[in-house]
Amino acid sequence: MNDLVLNNGVKMPQLGFGVFQMDQADECQRAVEEAIGVGYRLIDTAATYGNEASVGRAIKNSHISRDHFFITSKLWVSDFQGDKPTEAIDRSLKQLGSDYLDLYLLHMPYGDVFNAWRALEQAYHAGKIRAIGVSNFTADQLMNLELFNDVKPAVNQIEINPWNQRELLKRFCEQQDVQVEAWAPFAEGQNHLFTNPILSQIAQAHQKQVGQVVLRWLMQRGIVTIPKSVHRQRMVENFDIFDFQLNADEMKMIESLNLRRSFFFDPRDPAAIKSIVGGGRPGANQD
Ligand SMILES: NC(=O)c1ccc[n+]([C@@H]2O[C@H](COP(=O)([O-])OP(=O)(O)OC[C@H]3O[C@@H](n4cnc5c(N)ncnc54)[C@H](OP(=O)(O)O)[C@@H]3O)[C@@H](O)[C@H]2O)c1
Repeated sequence: MNDLVLNNGVKMPQLGFGVFQMDQADECQRAVEEAIGVGYRLIDTAATYGNEASVGRAIKNSHISRDHFFITSKLWVSDFQGDKPTEAIDRSLKQLGSDYLDLYLLHMPYGDVFNAWRALEQAYHAGKIRAIGVSNFTADQLMNLELFNDVKPAVNQIEINPWNQRELLKRFCEQQDVQVEAWAPFAEGQNHLFTNPILSQIAQAHQKQVGQVVLRWLMQRGIVTIPKSVHRQRMVENFDIFDFQLNADEMKMIESLNLRRSFFFDPRDPAAIKSIVGGGRPGANQD
């Protein structure tokens, strides 16, 4: 397992486990317990997923010391105003049964972003959060936040997968020393990702599965990622990506799959913003 070092010196595992769309408390707890058993230590949840308490129970049941985990959660836009961010951070901590978070993100770049960010800064200085970051921010939004605040985001969690590779935004984040983290690394299987002929050909050459090739491609690009699965066999498969290497030709073949579009939402699209802020689920297929 690779660890990366964030811009404030905090170490973050490069591969983790996402729990979006695990709505049933017992299913989420069981999946996280299995993921911990497989070896995952980075768990990515969010207040809006409604499953922080299940994640907290799974961590507690593991009897593994808290400092071996890297727990990420996210602040939802309805909690960006007034005193709400501070209350929401405390609520996340309580749900997770922890007195600190490893990483806390502004989930979306909408609403009272500056107020929310300053609450995250305060919690960071108070030692409640080891690193603070953002999600779904574009380059201009990131620069605006950086220029008018004290703490630079440590992470930008954005959609990245073979269909939507975000090369320009990735490069910008790297120039700013902001770690890129990929959500929906498999595009949730959209556009027949798991049977794509090019990915299948590369997988066959390495005697690996398509999902493993996609995760390996992300690792080799220096990106953190958090694949989700409720199936133990897939958790094992998604974790078993450190014993092979894609060569330059294979990396180029994957690069050629870039459609430069999302199968979920475009964060700059006014209709998408209205839907997300109005209660649409971030990352859930909007089609
Ligand atoms: N910041 C944001 O706005 C945002 C948005 C979306 C997601 N996220 C985070 O990113 C995480 C990952 O994204 P995601 O859950 O949307 O999508 P994803 O990881 O791209 O895809 C998950 C889907 O792929 C299937 N799958 C997983 N491993 C597989 C394998 N080896 N072979 C075949 N199918 C496989 C899963 O099915 P099964 O579960 O049935 O195995 C599930 O349907 C989320 O869980 C969440 O933590 C963040």
